[in-house]
Amino acid sequence: MASTNGISVRSARADERPAIIRLSEICFGMRVDPADLELSPTVFPTERALVAVDGDRIVGHTNDRTMTVTVPGERTVQACGITSVVVAPTHRRRGILRALYTEQHRRTESERLPLTIFTASEGTIYGRFGYGPALVENVISVPGRIAEFRPTTPDPGGVQIVSLDEAKVALPEIYDRWRRLVPGAQERPEARWQQRVFADSIQQEGGSPLFFLVHPDGYAILRRRWAEDKNTAEVHELRAITGEAHAALWRVLLNLDLSHSIEATLADHDPLPYLVTNPRLVRVTGRHDALWTRIMDVPAALTARTYQRDLDVVLSVDDPFREAGGVFALRVRDGVAECEPTDRTADLELGIDVLGSLYFGAYRARVFAAANRIQAKDTVVLREFDDAFASERDAELGWFF
Ligand SMILES: CC(C)(COP(=O)(O)OP(=O)(O)OC[C@H]1O[C@@H](n2cnc3c(N)ncnc32)[C@H](O)[C@@H]1OP(=O)(O)O)[C@@H](O)C(=O)NCCC(=O)NCCS
Repeated sequence: MASTNGISVRSARADERPAIIRLSEICFGMRVDPADLELSPTVFPTERALVAVDGDRIVGHTNDRTMTVTVPGERTVQACGITSVVVAPTHRRRGILRALYTEQHRRTESERLPLTIFTASEGTIYGRFGYGPALVENVISVPGRIAEFRPTTPDPGGVQIVSLDEAKVALPEIYDRWRRLVPGAQERPEARWQQRVFADSIQQEGGSPLFFLVHPDGYAILRRRWAEDKNTAEVHELRAITGEAHAALWRVLLNLDLSHSIEATLADHDPLPYLVTNPRLVRVTGRHDALWTRIMDVPAALTARTYQRDLDVVLSVDDPFREAGGVFALRVRDGVAECEPTDRTADLELGIDVLGSLYFGAYRARVFAAANRIQAKDTVVLREFDDAFASERDAELGWFF
């Protein structure tokens, strides 16, 4: 148990769940979904949570789950996935979040997990704790039935509309093949499917029920919404393992009748704009980070992924929050890395938050250097480092937490 300003941080008890839910509801300003009440503890067990207590009142909370996350090179790493970070409005700006994260990191370190990840509500809070934004999502809108496919765009067919019961069988299997290929995607617990996709409350969440389009190598989940002046088809989730599955699913979606627009979320290099004759029709209406990453163990994290080119570089990594960091020699041959502490002079200096941003390949080193967040000995070493950390496949978040 850690203590700060009369506030103690300790593990939660199962009987404290109602108080934790009440705190989450007021902090996030929402009602906890009925499906979550039953299933949430199987994904994020209450006993695993940390609470900050003032006397007998719970005034702060975090929870976490060890996640298997794909990294560039179709390998995986074990990461601590943090969720439900809240501090009571009666107790803000007294260092309770700081105390919770200190304890959270201590636990992650003792469990020897090389990475911590979460989705952030605001962009200004987490850099100080060593986190950097690590994935990007683009929200797009395409006018319904106007887009024409190019003559070169495959038309493989093979998409079927399936029932909820069929989706319950097909989707998890396809997702599991997909997530093994995609940096940033996590293994998905069965309960999370039920909670966020198959639950009655999700099916009835306004608009039409969710519909399921399934191809042997991909699927799309969509909901149609009707408004006075605009009918939309919202793509809740689309996963395509192959280019064929991607083209087949988008052919169905862009040909939906009675929809003014199709709305979806795409990674940066999704080929959708290039399947159609007018790429401008795929209009980006929003762009945001989708995951924040913190490297907990530099050699373990950097040797877990593969790289695009050979590299010999010495990195000086600053990690003030954990009083960690150090100087590390990173050597890559044929994609495979070795990394160890060294007393050699650094070629590149960067913060642990920046290293987290580069980790899945979605953010580029040369851009951070232009922002003076990476200091490089020379431009050649920077270019090599930048090229090496790129990812062949765009990183994507598998499931939100
Ligand atoms: C965000 C939240 C958890 C912060 O808790 P807190 O106990 O007030 O934070 P702390 O006092 O430990 O602050 C730690 C540092 O973060 C800064 N900080 C905290 N919240 C911040 C915010 N919303 N914006 C900018 N800075 C913030 C503090 O100023 C402090 O800075 P310092 O390092 O200079 O001392 C709390 O305000 C909250 O529950 N918000 C609503 C829910 C939410 O957004 N949760 C985060 C989900 S990812």
